[in-house]
Formats: sequence, structure tokens, C-alpha cells
Amino acid sequence: MQIHFTAAPDANTPRLAARVINQDMLPDDLPTAIVEGAKASRFAGKTGQVFEGFVDDTSGVLRLALAGAGKPDDDGRAAALERAGAALTAKYLTSGEEALALDCRSGDLDAAGVTSVLLGMRLRSWRWDTYRTKLKDEQKPTLSSITVIGAPEGTEAAWEDAAAVATGVELTRELVAEPANVIYPESFVARCKERFAGTGAEISVLGEEEMAALGMGALLGVSQGSVREGQLLVIKWMGGAANEKPTVFVGKGVTFDTGGISIKPAGGMEDMKWDMGGAGAVAGAMLSVAGRKAKANVIGVCGLVENMPDGNAQRPGDVVTTMSGQTVEVINTDAEGRLVLCDALTWAQKEFAPKRIVDLATLTGAMMIALGMEHGGLFANDDSLADDLLAAGKSSGDKLWRFPLAPEYDKLINSPIADMKNVGPRWAGSITAAQYLQRFIDDGVAWAHLDIAGMVWSDKPGATWDKGATGYGARLIDNFVRETCEG
Ligand code: BES
Ligand code: MN
Ligand code: ZN
Repeated sequence: MQIHFTAAPDANTPRLAARVINQDMLPDDLPTAIVEGAKASRFAGKTGQVFEGFVDDTSGVLRLALAGAGKPDDDGRAAALERAGAALTAKYLTSGEEALALDCRSGDLDAAGVTSVLLGMRLRSWRWDTYRTKLKDEQKPTLSSITVIGAPEGTEAAWEDAAAVATGVELTRELVAEPANVIYPESFVARCKERFAGTGAEISVLGEEEMAALGMGALLGVSQGSVREGQLLVIKWMGGAANEKPTVFVGKGVTFDTGGISIKPAGGMEDMKWDMGGAGAVAGAMLSVAGRKAKANVIGVCGLVENMPDGNAQRPGDVVTTMSGQTVEVINTDAEGRLVLCDALTWAQKEFAPKRIVDLATLTGAMMIALGMEHGGLFANDDSLADDLLAAGKSSGDKLWRFPLAPEYDKLINSPIADMKNVGPRWAGSITAAQYLQRFIDDGVAWAHLDIAGMVWSDKPGATWDKGATGYGARLIDNFVRETCEG
């Protein structure tokens, strides 16, 4: 989507124009036919509502769209404006129209407001058609250009920043949407190297030999059933003060999760291509952070493996030794995410002595049972970190809900033959998974775990996404960095 800015319409202005309308406040400079049409169609300017009408103009017939943004003083104004923009691209993306003029001359919106509308437009226009070779013309996107008319001072600069955010979200979606024969650990790394080229972020990778030398027996135990080599990808953005300790984000990147020998049922197993959604969110967020040259030291670590059944796969009952020295009895090879994360967390703490460490993972089906597709689950050993994440969840729209940690849950993963087992009893499955991870957090390190199993993929279109990869987590991290690490 190309976005241009201009002060006033000219001969090249698209004939499709759109205006953002506040609820119950139809402006009085609208053509009578539009006002009458909007009223007759019960268009009230509610968030996400769209009305369109055609009007005869001196220059020809114009197509005029009104997009509702709700009431200006309502909570979540930025989100409502994003939804207004998203509703416009949802409607016109495959309409045959190639260009749209967003008319901001009424002055109702400030620079941040216009930017929100544009961000919603861009995010909702993202599609993944790479493998659809037989799309009919009317199924193909046509809308590719937005002309913003009369935006207030400062909008272009604000948009530059928001565009970097969108680019990050789009990378997350792309990594999540790609099938597992295309995105596997090494190709995940290669895709990131491509996308981060020229951003100033520094990329490094550990292969299996290096991870073996470091003693990452848990991560490698998961990877050993796959012909794909596991990778630990590190993306560094050191835009802050030299003496400032970094904030580290660790992503679960299981590029495909069959369950391993504890194999999953066939129905719906294809969903497990997005079991790298945590790593995808971390990579996308790092691209946003680097793209907008954030004044903060931020490091992303992605634990990338494929979980396969195989003659060489690990067995239920195997005992592995983690990099921390702690041993784990692998009761269920399908509880592999925590095995990957524990070594990635240990390594990241040793390597970077982070101020705060946050992991993101599509870790448990139980999280989806608890929260559905509306919130990610948050677990934390530190209230101030938890509060900052909850706040970033609200401001970004990637919502979170906090769950408890407690010694009573922790003891449920004690093993009679090793330091712990990788699964607890049936109940509280998301919490015992978090307790497992907490056993790998050093004293004094503020840590949070985000279980985003329900959030990375959607069967239906949402606020700013079509069905498929949502991009969840990228904006959450980016906003967290913005709100608590910068300045
Ligand atoms: N990747 C899955 C969790 C998952 C399931 C995410 C469905 C999204 C949708 C994870 O590796 C897993 O298999 N977890 C098991 C844990 C169990 C064996 C303790 C689960 O949730 O069933
Ligand atoms: Mn699994
Ligand atoms: Zn998994």
C-alpha cells in the first residue's frame, strides 16, 4: 500500500474519497444525497460502520465513503480510528478501485488520529496470496494507493513511525502464515537476515553443534527427531545508552509441532505450522523497533526447532539435562515448547544479564480454553513488569490477562526420578507450564511469560486483520519498548 500526502485535491486525486465520521455527527458540508443516503441506511458513524454513495460532481461521478469511528471521547479512540481505516480497506481492497483519497480537510482529526486511520488501512490490506495461482480477477487486491488530503502538520512524521510498526506486524504475519515446508528453523533465520538487512540490527545464530557445546539438552532433545537443524536466532538492537542493560524477548519457534512420539491427532494438525508464533512476534517486533530507531537496548532470541516423530526422536520417559544443569523427565513429547524455551531463557540470562526478560509462546491448548481468542495469558514474577505489559496490551490492542503463579502449582511438576517433569496433571495446564519456565529464571531477574496460543491465528477477520495470521504480539512488544524502555 502506497501512502502519499497532499494539501489539496488536484487532477490526479482518485474519484473514490473517504471521510472519517464521528458517531451521530454527520458533517454539514456533505452533499445532500450522501446525508440522505447515510440516514436511510442507518449509518450513524458507529465504529467500523461504512456507508458509500455516488454523487454527481462537476468533475464527474464521485464515489464517497463514510467510515464510522464512534464517539470522540470514548475509551480506545486510537483503536476505533484504526477500525475505521481497516473497514475502508476491507471494503475496497478487491473492489476494482486502485486508489482512495482520505479526505482530512474537515480538521476533525489530529496527526495521531489520521495516523491511526492509516495504520488500520495498511494492516487490514495485508494478504498472503503467494500460493494462490488461480485467483480470479475479482478476488485479487486492486487498491494499492492512498492519497491523504489535508492532513494536519506532523502527520507524515507520525506515519513514518507507524509504518515501521506495520512492517514489523507484516513480518510476524508472514512468518506465521508460511507453511512448515517453507519456514523451518534455517529458513526462518534466512528470511530474517533478508528483512533485517540495512536496518542496523545485528543478527547472529547458534547451530546445533554450538548449542550442544553449551549443554542445551532440552532444546536439542526436541530437535533430534527432525532432519531440519535447530537454530537459536538472536536479533540485537542496541539503540539505547551503552550502560543500559538490555530488555530481552524470547520466542517459542516450533516451526511445526506434530507432538513428536506423543503424536497429535490428525484433525487440525496443520494449525501447528503457527507454533512459531512467539518467535514470529519477537522477530516482527524487533523489525519495528529497529525500523523506528528506538532509543532502547532490546534483544530478541528465537528458539527454532521442528518437533517430529522419528526413529531418532526423543521418547516419553527420556531424561534430558538442560543448560541450567537441571534435569527434566520428558513425560510428554508434545509439551515441547517449554523444553525449547528453558534453554533459550538460560542462555539469554547468562549471555545478556537482562534487566527484564519476557517470553512469548503458543504454549498450551489450555490457554485457549481459558481465554479464547480475546486475550493472551500473562504470568510474571514481578508486579511492575506485569503492569507494564498489561498497559502495553491495552495501548496496542494485543490484550493480556494475568494468571497466578504459586508454590502449590510448582510442586505439581516434581518428578520422582529427575528434578522436574515437563507436564503436570490435567488441571491448570497453562499455569504448570509457566511454573516450569520459572524454574529457569535466575534470582532477581524480572520475568514474564506470555502464553499466546489463542492469539496468533484467527478463523475469522478481526479489527485490523483478515482471517489467518493476526500478527499478535508484535505491536504488544513494540509498545512495551516504547512505553517502558525508551526515553
Ligand atoms: N503448541 C502446543 C499448544 C497449542 C495447542 C497451541 C493448540 C495452539 C493450539 C503445545 O506444544 C502443546 O502441544 N501443548 C500441550 C501440552 C500438554 C501435552 C501438556 C497441550 O496444550 O495439549
Ligand atoms: Mn506440542
Ligand atoms: Zn507446541
